[in-house]
Amino acid sequence: MAPVPPKRRRGPGRGEEAGAGRAAAPSPAPPRFPGVTIYLAEQHMGRSRRAFLTELARAKGFRVDQAYSPEVTHVVMEGSSAAEASDWLDHVLGASGSLPKPLLLNISWFIECMRQGKPVPVEGRHCLEVPLPTRSQADPDSVPAYACQRHTPLAHHNLCFTEALETLAEAAGFEGSQGRFLAFQRAASVLKALPGPITNMSQLQGLPCFGEHSSRIVQELLEHGVSSEVEGIKQSERYQTMKLFTQIFGVGVKTADRWYREGLRTLDDLQAQPRKLNRQQEAGIRHFEDLSSPVWRHEADAIQQVVEEAIRQVLPGATVTLTGGFRRGKLQGHDVDFLITHPVEGQEAGLIPKVMGHLESQGLVLYQHTQSNHYQDLKDLDHKASQNTAMDAYEKCFCVLWLPKPPTSFHLETGEGPKEPSRDGKAVRVDLVVSPISQFAFALLGWTGSQHFERELRRFSQAEKNLLLNSHGLYDPEKKESLPAASEEDIFTHLGLEYIAPEQRNA
Ligand code: UTP
Ligand code: MN
Repeated sequence: MAPVPPKRRRGPGRGEEAGAGRAAAPSPAPPRFPGVTIYLAEQHMGRSRRAFLTELARAKGFRVDQAYSPEVTHVVMEGSSAAEASDWLDHVLGASGSLPKPLLLNISWFIECMRQGKPVPVEGRHCLEVPLPTRSQADPDSVPAYACQRHTPLAHHNLCFTEALETLAEAAGFEGSQGRFLAFQRAASVLKALPGPITNMSQLQGLPCFGEHSSRIVQELLEHGVSSEVEGIKQSERYQTMKLFTQIFGVGVKTADRWYREGLRTLDDLQAQPRKLNRQQEAGIRHFEDLSSPVWRHEADAIQQVVEEAIRQVLPGATVTLTGGFRRGKLQGHDVDFLITHPVEGQEAGLIPKVMGHLESQGLVLYQHTQSNHYQDLKDLDHKASQNTAMDAYEKCFCVLWLPKPPTSFHLETGEGPKEPSRDGKAVRVDLVVSPISQFAFALLGWTGSQHFERELRRFSQAEKNLLLNSHGLYDPEKKESLPAASEEDIFTHLGLEYIAPEQRNA
């Protein structure tokens, strides 16, 4: 294991510690990564090393709690087996077994975070995996059939299987095979909700959504560690090209497929034929490097501040809510999604052009495409037709914003400046959506995702409850009436579903 770098003096600026009333230890500087609360388990680590690592992480802006609480998102253990980790968790959670569980991670995750100075995404190799009991007798009720009936945390125990199945889903989507896309996506999603890793084929018995093909892939991975079918797809020119093209902002499967059939393979090929590109795609290619690198949570927070400031100028009282993957606790995303509303119905109308004008005057807008609301179409909005799409009628803006680099990127640990040659900022994809307060709960639920969770919510509503759900409302076609909701909880209640918190919607 690589050693953790030695303790250094703190750099200027972060040293002040406001002495809030907590225990003897002074409070650290405000955490830079709001989605992450670390707890270091003392077991095996020892008190002094724990204290050292705590101070190191806090100096880098991480929140590290001394005592375990439900706010803890990442439990880090050193030298513990999976079984010990699981016992420890059972012990601290006690009777509250239905609470969302923190991630149980080995020290490698912590060390990588310290090296990079920011939270790194949790991967399978970081997880202390708690094995599932072998399912000799299948219990079909233990895993519900719809993703919206399950708790699906961000980090799970079956990454190698879900990556393979999702590659197959993606490839099926590239070929326009919606049925196969859904079949693989549903199988992957089931595995994400399991409390431990699949280690034996018998554990698949009785799991919903597991067809012959998905089972065969899992078997191949269990036996050989790789799936020849998945590897073949990943190596193929078709898959690689489609993946590249659909990654471009403004390019969907249909366009990518047409370009592929015309013989285009690379970004250079596209740039050589600029007439093929619309304005959005042009922006997508111009900013490809920035837009294809992940947006980090602290960058999303920085953009939120910029958007909030603009809104304070143009419509005081309006609120900005971070939605999408970041609301589900993701540490990185492909874009940043915001939902804006105002407590007085109607005040929000026409907000986007004003906000964008304000951002534009600061030179922060690299691309924008604003859609005004089209609620007038909503009366006729075919609820059935909107079942399988994420389309809604809200006023919104799909844009690319410029996020200037914060002035202090001083390296706390080494006292040096950043290692990378300094760039002065970064282009980031941002979606701004405006909803009237009366529809806010539906918009929030619809824009929090995951996409698969949303799809399953709509499928469940229709098939099990004969209700039609979209990002504007919940409609009863028999009674010909809409069911109001003031919160996401209300919507789950209307549907007879247990409430699933955003962090558990990573289906
Ligand atoms: P995203 O595509 O942004 O996904 O859509 P994400 O979960 O945040 O993941 P990354 O990290 O950005 O890749 C967020 C939610 O917004 C809905 C989608 O259905 C998803 O649930 N959405 C997105 C819409 O309702 N309409 C849209 O036009 C786009
Ligand atoms: Mn997003």
